[in-house]
Amino acid sequence: MPLTTSLNTNHPSIAQSASTRGAPDPWASPEWVRHQGLSEWVRQIAELAQPEAILWCDGSESQNQLLCDQMVEAGTLRRLNPAKRPNSYLAWSDPSDVARVEDRTFICSNQREDAGPTNHWVAPDAMRATLNGLFEGCMRGRTLYVIPFSMGPLGSPIAQIGVELSDSPYVVVNMRIMTRMGRAVLDQLGTDGTFVPCVHSVGMPLVDAQGTVQADVAWPCNPTKYIVHFPETREIWSFGSGYGGNALLGKKCFALRIASHMGRAARDQDGMGWLAEHMLILGVTSPSGDKKHIAAAFPSACGKTNFAMLIPPAGFDGWKVTTIGDDIAWIRPRPDPVTGQMRLYAINPEAGYFGVAPGTGYKTNPNAMATLHANVIFTNVALTDDGDVWWEGMSEEPPAHCLDWTGRDWTPESARAEGRKAAHPNARFTAPASQCPSVDPAWDDPAGVAIDAFIFGGRRSSTVPLVTEARDWVEGVYMAATMGSETTAAAAGQQGVVRRDPFAMLPFCGYHMGDYFAHWLALGEALQQSGSTVPHIFCVNWFRTDEQGRFVWPGFGDNMRVLRWMFDRLNGQSGGTEHLFGVTPRYEDLDWQGLDFGPTRYQRITSIESAQWQEELKLHDELFERLAQRMPPALRVARDALAERLRLAVA
Ligand code: GTP
Ligand code: SPV
Ligand code: MN
Repeated sequence: MPLTTSLNTNHPSIAQSASTRGAPDPWASPEWVRHQGLSEWVRQIAELAQPEAILWCDGSESQNQLLCDQMVEAGTLRRLNPAKRPNSYLAWSDPSDVARVEDRTFICSNQREDAGPTNHWVAPDAMRATLNGLFEGCMRGRTLYVIPFSMGPLGSPIAQIGVELSDSPYVVVNMRIMTRMGRAVLDQLGTDGTFVPCVHSVGMPLVDAQGTVQADVAWPCNPTKYIVHFPETREIWSFGSGYGGNALLGKKCFALRIASHMGRAARDQDGMGWLAEHMLILGVTSPSGDKKHIAAAFPSACGKTNFAMLIPPAGFDGWKVTTIGDDIAWIRPRPDPVTGQMRLYAINPEAGYFGVAPGTGYKTNPNAMATLHANVIFTNVALTDDGDVWWEGMSEEPPAHCLDWTGRDWTPESARAEGRKAAHPNARFTAPASQCPSVDPAWDDPAGVAIDAFIFGGRRSSTVPLVTEARDWVEGVYMAATMGSETTAAAAGQQGVVRRDPFAMLPFCGYHMGDYFAHWLALGEALQQSGSTVPHIFCVNWFRTDEQGRFVWPGFGDNMRVLRWMFDRLNGQSGGTEHLFGVTPRYEDLDWQGLDFGPTRYQRITSIESAQWQEELKLHDELFERLAQRMPPALRVARDALAERLRLAVA
């Protein structure tokens, strides 16, 4: 059942257009495209956007090389020194186009209430009219690239196919790393398979309606931006940005916003549904060979990539962490083939990492640095004099001179004097997952891995302790639902302000957040009713600071100490102390080998101050009030129980 029909007929200007027979057809699809619905849709979008040409992306190395060469020619990409960084490129974006734009992101469900108060909503008809206006002629003078992609291993029962139409070659080469992209996807799609149509334009035509030609720029974009989702008809339209989650539509738009809606809707079919989550997935193996899988949700730029690639510190001989995914998890319930018990299986729908560069270094994340040895696209990092890249935190010693991400001269002295960064704080690398030294053997197993625990974590300079285990599923869902985090450079807007970011999904949930909480509760209940044990739920915070604003906890590899405590908890083997909202390890419950970190400092990152928690509870209440219409009663009960314990603690 192709989904494209509903989309097309809703567009007046494209519904009217019809292809003419006879004359040679410049927009004919290649013979290897056998899906007529797809060919028709591409033609209709082309008639709307009026590109100069259409190129079907086959995923080949030769086509990729051609596009990279063209982008080097156009100044969009710089080829890095092949002796230092083989087959790698650097892009500098327009300084106005450096992050996701949450203010310009819309969930256009038929009913406003279904998008919920945490999403921006516009009535679908009104939004379609706006988009029609914006997209009309928006690709003039450019090539329209047809990018078929699979989220998840090709042919996996969990995988989904999308096709992105974009006028950005930068998007093409990034999608080739981030997804399974190209001709093989269309072979899988067959003649009538279902795909999610994704339309993207940087919104800067090179020829205006009068036929006047204008010169291209290295990073075309448009100050007007729209990142639009139609959850019911499963379509994505993105206009005006070439950056990251705004433009690589398989990632946040499809794999989270549309997929979260799909997973919830599937519950009406099979009674359970599935989950699309902003989570890394890792394997952790003990010296005796016991292996567990953990999925962890931290908001953007709060440590997922780093945690997924963790290298255990000295003293943890024999412990190993392996990487299945670093940003997104698709999770489905299914019986364990051996025990028959229902379990939650997770896949990473992506094929690459679009990771934060600043702070990623040889000391903090050697696995990421090794992943970046070749075949990488860097965006908004600095260019060194020997044709390589640099960013804050990559090495202790900065280069004596480089060009910063805006192309200006940069030296450590100028940085000190002007406070100017060499790399943009949201500078990113795009690298193939297969290049990661810690990649798990099952990272692209279509069956996925069975999840033993969930972790939720925010960036909080105070209030939230290092780690807490929820006592049951509902308490864990409450913790995740009420999580707060300080905003980061991953999204445009003010940074460092605490906001509620339920499940690290605030910007990514494609439907009402209250319904989303209910979906999590129902899934846990269904698992438990079927006689299965549910994954344990933990909440972490690596980011408590001292009076000078410095992080108290060393983080990175030392997070293994917390991971090991969780591992042992899963086996019923480590202790802790119960408090207001769960169980936290006492000092003696953690393994401190190889680290000089005394009980006093430990107290600073695990203390629970009643006064702070009274303030925190008010913030929970604010969120609950916003979501009141669809707030699951079980979470209100959890909230009242917490309030009562807090009252007793203060009394
Ligand atoms: P997205 O790709 O935006 O979803 O981000 P992410 O959650 O994958 O975050 P990532 O691992 O890229 O880390 C973001 C920033 O936080 C980087 O600058 C890291 O250096 C820093 N960071 C990650 N883990 C830790 C930690 O344990 N402690 C401290 N202090 N900083 C960390
Ligand atoms: C995030 O912001 O959570 C990211 C980067 O992972 S982006 O792809 O831009 O969404
Ligand atoms: Mn992310």
